[in-house]
Amino acid sequence: MQKVDKFQSGAEKAKVLVVGGGGRCHAIVDALSRSPKVGKIYCAPGNAGIATQAECVPLKDTQVEELKVFALREKIDLTVVGPEAALAAGITDVFTDAGLRIFGPTKAAATIESSKDFAKRLMDKYSVPTAAFRTFEDYSEAVEYVRNGKFPVVLKYDGLAAGKGVVIAEDFAQADATLKDMLLDAHFGKGKVVVEEFLTGPEFSFMCFVNGAEVYPMVVSQDHKRAFEGDKGPNTGGMGAYSPVPLITDEDIEYSLEHVMKPVAAGMVAEGCPFKGVLYGGLMKTPDGVKVIEFNCRFGDPETEVVLPRLTSDIYDIFSAVADGSPMPVIKWSDKAAIGFVLASKGYPGSYDKAFAIDGLAEAEALGDIRIYHMGTAEKDGRLVTSGGRVLMVVGFGENLRAAQAHALKAVDCIKCDNLFFRKDIGWRVLL
Ligand code: AMP
Ligand code: GLY
Repeated sequence: MQKVDKFQSGAEKAKVLVVGGGGRCHAIVDALSRSPKVGKIYCAPGNAGIATQAECVPLKDTQVEELKVFALREKIDLTVVGPEAALAAGITDVFTDAGLRIFGPTKAAATIESSKDFAKRLMDKYSVPTAAFRTFEDYSEAVEYVRNGKFPVVLKYDGLAAGKGVVIAEDFAQADATLKDMLLDAHFGKGKVVVEEFLTGPEFSFMCFVNGAEVYPMVVSQDHKRAFEGDKGPNTGGMGAYSPVPLITDEDIEYSLEHVMKPVAAGMVAEGCPFKGVLYGGLMKTPDGVKVIEFNCRFGDPETEVVLPRLTSDIYDIFSAVADGSPMPVIKWSDKAAIGFVLASKGYPGSYDKAFAIDGLAEAEALGDIRIYHMGTAEKDGRLVTSGGRVLMVVGFGENLRAAQAHALKAVDCIKCDNLFFRKDIGWRVLL
């Protein structure tokens, strides 16, 4: 049913709640604050940077019932969900049942991220290109299959594992140890393991606004998952990103839209769990064409911090159209390039200390062509301090990626903190 949005005239402004608290949510809050239709923005739980643009609410993203009570009490007009945990906890179902408008997929549709096996079977059924795979529950069967296969082999725990559930095993001994860990010792909980063919090629992130069977592409970006320069060190949540990605041609994007994103959206409708929200395709341009590495059911982090600043249309209209199932407005993007450097706590993604003072943000922002998104910051005794593994994302803009990089690196230089490190080589595939 199509609803009339009373905020279209601009006479009355919408109250919006953003659920989440990292850099992705800061970028969402920032984009919403550019909308003339949006008045007050709340963010739960938010962080010290978000607090400059929204009122932070001390509720965790997974406190679904408490968030519902808050949204009803404050008469929130639209809720936008950042992290997957809230979606997997069924926030969209609970809010919708309570008559609240919300942007984000249902728990059933969020399974495309929370179960790798579900995603693989869906791709198989709808002929979406992806790595060959088999799923196992039994350790001995998995070991036999892997023993006779090729290396490296990719082993994926079938469930949410905070980005740690994927192991690329170089040889049988490593594969065996991983399968033992995942299937016998149930390190992430009892579950299945997807054993997948190892693919090669540059990866890119293709996020789309999806409204049932309708798919609206965002500009493409690329994340950098490894902790250290030269793509070395452990996997992280992402150490930087840039957009556009010159390695990915218009034909690649067209192919990805027609052969990946649209068939998956149509497949979700056919399976009885239509997807409404952001569908994130983690794709790889292999020598045999574009293939899917993974799907996420929400905005990517840190990709969102370089993609949403390039959006020139009103994001409130887009979120509303998806929440209401009404026609989507025309979506426009700026030609400017964006590149973002994550400043992380020393020790991340392992253990790290917190509460180090951060200075120089105002000087950095005053340089112009810069946005600084807070990922893990807090306020302590009136000072900005570190409070997470990933702390800040410094995004530079420019006519091209090189100009954007120069702006961002100058801004990074202004930021003073005793416990941060960053990768200088973000964008190396296209800039070096
Ligand atoms: P995922 O959590 O599924 O995104 O996997 C984490 C990372 O593992 C990806 O970003 C890829 O770099 C790598 N990866 C996952 N699946 C494959 C695959 N089939 N072939 C090669 N690399 C992969
Ligand atoms: N940057 C990868 C993710 O958001 O999962």
